[in-house]
Amino acid sequence: MPLISVITHTDTVVSPYPASDVNIKAYPPGGGTLGLHYDTNGITVLLFLTTNQEAPLRYQVERSHPSRKEPWVEHGKVHARKGALLIMQGRRVLHDCEPTLNEQKFSVVYNYYERHDTYRHPDFDNFVYYGARPSRLEG
Ligand SMILES: [Fe+2]
Repeated sequence: MPLISVITHTDTVVSPYPASDVNIKAYPPGGGTLGLHYDTNGITVLLFLTTNQEAPLRYQVERSHPSRKEPWVEHGKVHARKGALLIMQGRRVLHDCEPTLNEQKFSVVYNYYERHDTYRHPDFDNFVYYGARPSRLEG
């Protein structure tokens, strides 16, 4: 997508893996959530379809600066706002979704890669979307 390439200064391609190129995430009221994780793709774009007071995306980013001796971890929250686009380096940003209470939350997830870096473990989508145990873990 040219817009994402321009913003990220990378040669961006949409995920070549059909199950995980574009998804809709639906968080039902009463505990809809997503566990803490890094993304496998390099660039993740979220389009929020709802405005929510609950269930923010929570993130942790490692930071460093020449003025500080030690790196540190920045924590933050982003509440969904309908129509807003969030662009994130999903491999570098540890993130989850705080559980919903009464609201429902919907977002579109666009998974992008840099053209030279589209590796994804062959079992990963079957595990995430269909619950199939990765072959490496069997036996
Ligand atoms: Fe993610």
